[in-house]
Amino acid sequence: MYQYDQYDHLIVRERIAQYRDQVQRRIAGELTEEEFLPLRLQNGLYMQRHAYMLRIAVPYGLLASKQMRMFAHIARKYDRGYGHFTTRQNIQFNWIELEQTPDILADLASVEMHAIQTSGNCIRNVTADEYAGVAADEIVDPRPYAEVLRQWSTFHPEFIALPRKFKVAINGAVEDRAAIAVHDIGLTVVKNEAGEIGFKVMVGGGMGRTPILGSVIREFLPREHLLTYTEAIMRVYNQYGRRDNKYKARIKILLKAIGVEDFARQVEEEWADLKGNAETLTLEEMERIIAYFQPHAYATLPAIDPLAEHADNKAFANWLKRNVKPHKVPGYAAVVLSLKKTGVPPGDATAEQMDFMADLADRYSFGELRVTHEQNIVLADVEQRQLFKLWQEAKAHGLATPNIGLLTDMICCPGGDFCSLANAKSIPIAAAIAERFDHIDFLHDIGDLELNMSGCINACGHHHVGHIGILGVDKDGSEWYQVSIGGAQGNQSAIGKIIGPSFSAQQMPEVIDRLLQVYLRERTPEERFVDTAQRLGIAPFKEFVYATPIDTAGRLVGEDEYA
Ligand code: HEM
Ligand code: SF4
Repeated sequence: MYQYDQYDHLIVRERIAQYRDQVQRRIAGELTEEEFLPLRLQNGLYMQRHAYMLRIAVPYGLLASKQMRMFAHIARKYDRGYGHFTTRQNIQFNWIELEQTPDILADLASVEMHAIQTSGNCIRNVTADEYAGVAADEIVDPRPYAEVLRQWSTFHPEFIALPRKFKVAINGAVEDRAAIAVHDIGLTVVKNEAGEIGFKVMVGGGMGRTPILGSVIREFLPREHLLTYTEAIMRVYNQYGRRDNKYKARIKILLKAIGVEDFARQVEEEWADLKGNAETLTLEEMERIIAYFQPHAYATLPAIDPLAEHADNKAFANWLKRNVKPHKVPGYAAVVLSLKKTGVPPGDATAEQMDFMADLADRYSFGELRVTHEQNIVLADVEQRQLFKLWQEAKAHGLATPNIGLLTDMICCPGGDFCSLANAKSIPIAAAIAERFDHIDFLHDIGDLELNMSGCINACGHHHVGHIGILGVDKDGSEWYQVSIGGAQGNQSAIGKIIGPSFSAQQMPEVIDRLLQVYLRERTPEERFVDTAQRLGIAPFKEFVYATPIDTAGRLVGEDEYA
């Protein structure tokens, strides 16, 4: 993985010193909160409902074990013993003391991490496929290109005051696992017929108030032009994106206003001036960066069936089926450690678990881990013959719930428990649903189902692209939940459709149950929930869910626990 050079170290150290001084001045009362706000946000520090929250970037989700151990240390020393992995492959700590933030950033710098550009109207953490470099269906490893973009965009003077935050995702496999259609720029690394590497460029996707899927503006951009072309897009956006209205400031609104063709034409015009300039990526420069992502020293192993010796172990079989993914090197597999155990807020990991995951990475996976945008952790390079042992260990630490891609593998933002923008809580709803369907055979029978939940329209929990999406809404000061179905991420991305009036928190588990009943009744043998929902439309679901009143008397499971 990429390592800081002397300049990176220097820049990050200087930034911490500068910030330490700003914090001291704030504490001494020399800076007002208003003056301090932009300074802290530039270092990833938000003010939340109860406390400060620090967001740390994990570039394209790739972590060294020592970096994961540092998260454990931060959780233990400066927070309440846990951290929250997010849909943008970041981690957030929710109970941070202002005075301690410079020390936290210094600790992070010691393992080559920071929180710069995790907030504000700039280019945010570039995200990528969590199986990059190992996926069996990969065409080109996207990480070197994500890294080039990271280096280029960090502190880019022209793009630190964009109309709005800007999110780039990159994927290099046949299957899109980076949700590129809902990003401001979504790149797919491709090879053309001549074997040259380039990018399919998608622009203007995003969720939030106006969910829109991105549009392709270029089918093939030769790789040497990655930065100049991205710069051209950014310039058009920077110049014409709306600055008068925060809700209309994203690039998707500009594209909608002027049309994809006109936008693409303007980008090409801008690019004509930039093409071939000093930012053109030479082969030498690309090779330098690619060298950081060389494949690990894999052993020559036969491909085996890990279940062969444990054929009667159903729990292990379930885990293999859901949590173990194919690897392009024979004898290896990628393992997803589930952060979705029932009773735990989705994406949360304790300090003990973080230390343990780091140990697993050292012992089983070349000392590396990845954060998925579904809020789980991946060990990408595990020998198949070690899977049983790894499973037993992971199970003992609550990290082997065999539910990846199933109903209880929910994406969920922090919602009203932490986030000051929330309209409603999301964590207790996730807990109640998980509790209601905490039956592994039933979950496996239902099969692939993405349930995504956000506590407000900002859509941090990706609810628009959930097969089932839940959105917290405010009605006369009380918390309600709007349900949509038929959304999807990946190659068949779609925005879900709202089924009707919203529900109370107490009704939500029953609503999910009714949606599933319709699915079980209507599905053809090969159909996933989303396929049935897309084939039939919302009508039969809507009809059944609203046919009879849903009891609201019961206490919501987990309600008080997370209050
Ligand atoms: C301090 C807590 C947070 C705040 C204040 C916050 C704020 C926001 C806002 C204002 C937007 C809408 C932006 C726009 O449309 O211009 C947004 C979108 C988003 N945030 Fe957050 N967020 C927070 C936490 C999170 C968390 C925990 C996650 C992941 C679990 C997350 C991931 C996202 C994503 C994926 C979007 C959708 C972007 C899009 O496609 O339009 N955020 N957030
Ligand atoms: S969706 Fe809303 S409630 Fe959830 S984290 Fe984002 S801003 Fe907060």
